[in-house]
Amino acid sequence: MNRLIIVSNRLPFALDSTGADLWTVTPAVGGLVSAVEPVLRERGGTWIGWPGIAGKIPQGPLAEATRDAGYNVVPVALSETERNEFYYGYSNEVIWPLFHDLQNFCNFEPAYWQAYKQVNERYADAIIRNARPDDFIWVHDYHLMYVAQALRERSAPQNLAALTFFLHIPFPPYDIFSKLPQQRGLLRALLQFNLLGFQTRRDVRNFLQCVRRVMPDAKVLSRGETHVIRFEKRKIRVGHFPIGIDFDSFENGAKSEEVTQRSQQLRANFPDCQLILGSDRLDYSKGIPERLRAFRNALERYAELRGRVALIQIVVPSRVEIPRYHEFKGRIDRLVGDINGHFSTSTWIPVQYHFRGLDREDLLAHYRACDIAFLTPLKDGMNLVAKEYCACRTDEDGALILSQFAGAAEQLKPDALLVNPYDVELMADTIVKAFRMSPAERTARMKRMRRNVRKENVFWWVDSFLAAASLLAKRVPRRRRNL
Ligand code: F6P
Repeated sequence: MNRLIIVSNRLPFALDSTGADLWTVTPAVGGLVSAVEPVLRERGGTWIGWPGIAGKIPQGPLAEATRDAGYNVVPVALSETERNEFYYGYSNEVIWPLFHDLQNFCNFEPAYWQAYKQVNERYADAIIRNARPDDFIWVHDYHLMYVAQALRERSAPQNLAALTFFLHIPFPPYDIFSKLPQQRGLLRALLQFNLLGFQTRRDVRNFLQCVRRVMPDAKVLSRGETHVIRFEKRKIRVGHFPIGIDFDSFENGAKSEEVTQRSQQLRANFPDCQLILGSDRLDYSKGIPERLRAFRNALERYAELRGRVALIQIVVPSRVEIPRYHEFKGRIDRLVGDINGHFSTSTWIPVQYHFRGLDREDLLAHYRACDIAFLTPLKDGMNLVAKEYCACRTDEDGALILSQFAGAAEQLKPDALLVNPYDVELMADTIVKAFRMSPAERTARMKRMRRNVRKENVFWWVDSFLAAASLLAKRVPRRRRNL
């Protein structure tokens, strides 16, 4: 039976040194890990990735972290220079901002590309060492777009018919992509995979437009939602596969006694207030300052909200070694301070701000307790927080305000209240709309969103991706329970 080999920059945990021979293991944050982990747990297989530290990987803590995983873990080591130039550099100072349409944030340092290729080659070597010839290889995300090319250059003995890729972040339109100095090299590398999956139709459209413009020797054939590219005598399939969540696990978690109690406590701390939730990794693509400005604008223009709403904003630390992320945190701190300084009374503080990740029970308690989720990324591959919020609303209450530029908007419209995150006044008006919404309307909308999130869950996502892959390779991995 073919095994599933997941290859991603992040493993589902991160090691960190807290002193000589002292290590902490923390769950990795972000959409990729939260979606892929339940899939591997269910199907078994191997996960090749980086445990988040530069230099030698300590074997003891690694064994500890992977003991109960239920699948094999193969760590890939990065030196300090590689971490700086591949991870912080090309991945997060070039591709990340560019693919989120923020080209002014890019640092197109030429050395980064060399490091990117070099680390991708290391991943290809790890695949060759650990995968059997008929394994199903599924590479994830923007850090590893060069892996298939590196495998082909090495004449890898693996099943290259089942060499597939999924991009978790958006793919930009041609006018933005064309700023990338390595645009041709990168597209050529992507076309070495046999199946390319994107989150939304928007991303597929952008990708195909870039291929048509940058790669005249590639031929794009589209019929409805089926897209095939002919390139170098091969056929590459392209499709959109919106990622989902493990709905049952969120729903069951939200119903637990512990979460119920914590959510009641949270509610009791804010009598007579509707609670609004923002929850994001620290990232300039998440639209946190815009959201805070909209909240301020709503408090200024709508007196009825004062003392009657509170915004709980959770920001999970991320990539803080990159100067822009560090500065960005300062900006959020100042905006929160400004709102609280201006509007607080002796009995009411408008913004509750947490700069830390919450444990799972606490997070689910927040989803359950908050009347409105307010998620306003400037651009986002999917935004799984929106889906997690719906899954946890077992009472079928709760309104979702969502950026029109989040991938999730394609699935959750028209029941989510869609906003342009650059339009502060519109967002403020939408807060009021959600605040005033009748319980019956909230329930009707939430029911439909929950139905969608339950149906198009993470297992549906993986099944649809593997079904598309099965058109290329004869056998793809099945679920454990079917074995
Ligand atoms: O979901 C997008 C994503 O970039 C993942 O690829 C990544 O693992 C996650 O966000 C968190 O970012 P990082 O791995 O840089 O901490």
